Amino acid sequence: MRDLLDPDYEPECNRSGNTPFAQVFSARIGRRGFLQGSLGAAVGGLFASTGVAHALQASAGPTLGFAPVPVNTADTLVVPQGYEARVIYRWGDPITGAMPAYSPGNTGAEQGEQAGMHHDGMHFFPIEGDDPWQGSSTDGLLVVNHEYIEPRFLHAGAMRGQAMSGSETPDHQGPRDPEMVLKEMNAHGVSIARIREGEDGQWRIVADPRNRRITALTEMAIAGPVRGSDLVKTKFSPEGERTRGTLSNCAHGVTPWNTYMAAEENWSGYFVNTGGDLPREHARYGVRTDVSRHNWHRSADGSDACVRFDATPAADAPEGDYRNEPNTYGWMVEIDPFDPLSMPVKRTTLGRFAHEGVVFAPAEAGEPVVCYSGDDARGEYIYKFVSAAAYAPGQTRGDILDEGVLYAAKFNADGTGDWLALIHGENGLDETNGFASQADVLVNTRTAADLLGATPMDRPEWGTVDPQTRAVYFTLTNNAERTAGETDAANPRGPNLFGQIIRWHEDGGQAGQTFRWDLFVIAGPEGDSADMNGEALDADSLFCSPDGLWMDAHRRLWIQTDISESVMNRGPFEAFGNNMMLAANPETGEIRRFLTGPVGQEITGVVTTPDHRTMFINVQHPGATTSREDFAAGRFSSRWPDGGDSVPRSATVMIRRIDRGVVGA
Ligand code: FEO
Ligand code: CA
Ligand code: CA
Repeated sequence: MRDLLDPDYEPECNRSGNTPFAQVFSARIGRRGFLQGSLGAAVGGLFASTGVAHALQASAGPTLGFAPVPVNTADTLVVPQGYEARVIYRWGDPITGAMPAYSPGNTGAEQGEQAGMHHDGMHFFPIEGDDPWQGSSTDGLLVVNHEYIEPRFLHAGAMRGQAMSGSETPDHQGPRDPEMVLKEMNAHGVSIARIREGEDGQWRIVADPRNRRITALTEMAIAGPVRGSDLVKTKFSPEGERTRGTLSNCAHGVTPWNTYMAAEENWSGYFVNTGGDLPREHARYGVRTDVSRHNWHRSADGSDACVRFDATPAADAPEGDYRNEPNTYGWMVEIDPFDPLSMPVKRTTLGRFAHEGVVFAPAEAGEPVVCYSGDDARGEYIYKFVSAAAYAPGQTRGDILDEGVLYAAKFNADGTGDWLALIHGENGLDETNGFASQADVLVNTRTAADLLGATPMDRPEWGTVDPQTRAVYFTLTNNAERTAGETDAANPRGPNLFGQIIRWHEDGGQAGQTFRWDLFVIAGPEGDSADMNGEALDADSLFCSPDGLWMDAHRRLWIQTDISESVMNRGPFEAFGNNMMLAANPETGEIRRFLTGPVGQEITGVVTTPDHRTMFINVQHPGATTSREDFAAGRFSSRWPDGGDSVPRSATVMIRRIDRGVVGA
């Protein structure tokens, strides 16, 4: 129960026995003859030795022209001198309908007309609607993921004075109050809101017919090989073509054709299956056998929209119950922010797992579309998708994602890597191993990747593609379960508390079948870290638990951290203070702390306007460090952003230079 209520709950379900990344890396370092215990030897080596470094270091890289901010433990957001930060979009801010104002007592229906909770991945789409990276820098559609909820703050009007942890509700053990359940469902999902910089220089939400909420209740289409499969037939959609809702929308993706992709990460905790032996498409993803995170299936109204979270077989056939409902989650969901009538689409060819997000390589006319996605759980994999059709600017739409090949990454000990194709009928992905079809392979993506021998990683989070060199970077946030027996020169930390950033360069173009990889930085405190030059991080650069990651068009690599609220500012994490954002130069390896956030939160989500002079970031779950007792006493650990005796609220923050120069330069 404890782990399920932990907001960072990521069930470890990989029992494949594939060689852990730690062993691969130690083997590689051993073969290369580096000294034991030298973190510096673990980074920067491969690209230098293979000549990739020469190709990648064609320029000096971007400047980091700001004074680094110090580590911070105060309940405030700090940006460098010469910068300003303003909150522009809070949980509960009205965006649609009658624009109901935020109050701690908002109804469930009102929540459906307001920004959701727990802002995460996001993008600013310039209002012209042509190109996700070009156009207005003062007017656009802000699309934001709302990853999860903290009921005690969501229901602050009703729960004030009660001892509650971050995920509890008063009725958690019994029948749930349908009104609370509705508010919880409507606080999840995605929001689309037009934002504009006024004549006075201030950004505001603007009422617009394109503003909308997508929630745990919104009807969605299923596309790709899984559409119509027996594995997604439900009482709601006996044809297996539709489902309702999206959940756990962590990071995101931006397609070259100007749409938004929301990832479904820790969705499995929302379902139960009490029917005994779980099918692998439930068991390998951590679907629970006793209770679920919010027990929506126990809503006292018995409504179909709630009952479906109980995946226990109840009828003679899947068309009569919701045994397959969990199979309709775990996908990347495409949303067209410019068409408010468009139905979101679950693109199943990109695989089913705990999608952190998806990152598209810059699309080239006549070449396949290529994107990457991490499966954020301990010991899971990194994936790549290559479309079957070629990209045609102005013509290509989301259905290009419905045909192509999904690959899982294998990181070899010698610094090379292989992309392992998840194709039904090949390499054992056939009847002998229980794979009846490509739909079966995709619904069971993790099991298929196990079979092919993909490399289990330390919780892959965000990725980004260098717009110049096309190198791919991914954060590996941490892996507290790594044992001391796995420690070695490259991974001397068992457990790996602090995380690292890996990068690779494809051989033979972005769609290539092999690659060469290296570590960009090993995060941690002074004395237990290394940048790409082998130097320890220092007071201006130390960080841990890298999560959000984005390289802007000027090639500044923005790194955001997510130290769990269960450990932040304590023990080995005391040195890092509150979660933060840093900027790095991918050529020199220099890293500087750009921003620190308030108490209890993580910094996640980052984008700039096309002119790079306005940046948006998200502050998620301020106040999450509040204990049960302190909640009861009304002592919230954060009052950000509204101060006083207010309820803490996740929010989007606008950051810019006072002289309106390029952010970070
Ligand atoms: Fe939602 Fe993996 O962070
Ligand atoms: Ca994340
Ligand atoms: Ca995280």
